[in-house]
Amino acid sequence: MSSWIEVGQIKDIPPLGARVVQTGQGDIAIFRNSQNEIFALRDKCPHKGGPLSQGIVSGKTVTCPLHNWKISLENGEAMGPDSGCSGVYAVKLEGEKIFLNLNK
Ligand code: FES
Repeated sequence: MSSWIEVGQIKDIPPLGARVVQTGQGDIAIFRNSQNEIFALRDKCPHKGGPLSQGIVSGKTVTCPLHNWKISLENGEAMGPDSGCSGVYAVKLEGEKIFLNLNK
């Protein structure tokens, strides 16, 4: 059985923004950058739990809206002098459709 679940279409995600998907593992933010690449992270900043889905995407990072930590969209790690990690999930595009895998 496939573990990929369809979670909408790329047009549902604002460019340089995110959309939250509610799952049994908590809220997951699906991000879209200017290259139309997509990434999935737990919607919880590793600092104090800020909603990363409300941050601004730049390149392959998102800036937390609460205290401006920059988090890598590729591995969920805080960048620069900060440390901590927000869980990442596998996500893929098939045409316009977005699929999320909670097991990877
Ligand atoms: S909660 Fe994200 S930077 Fe503080």
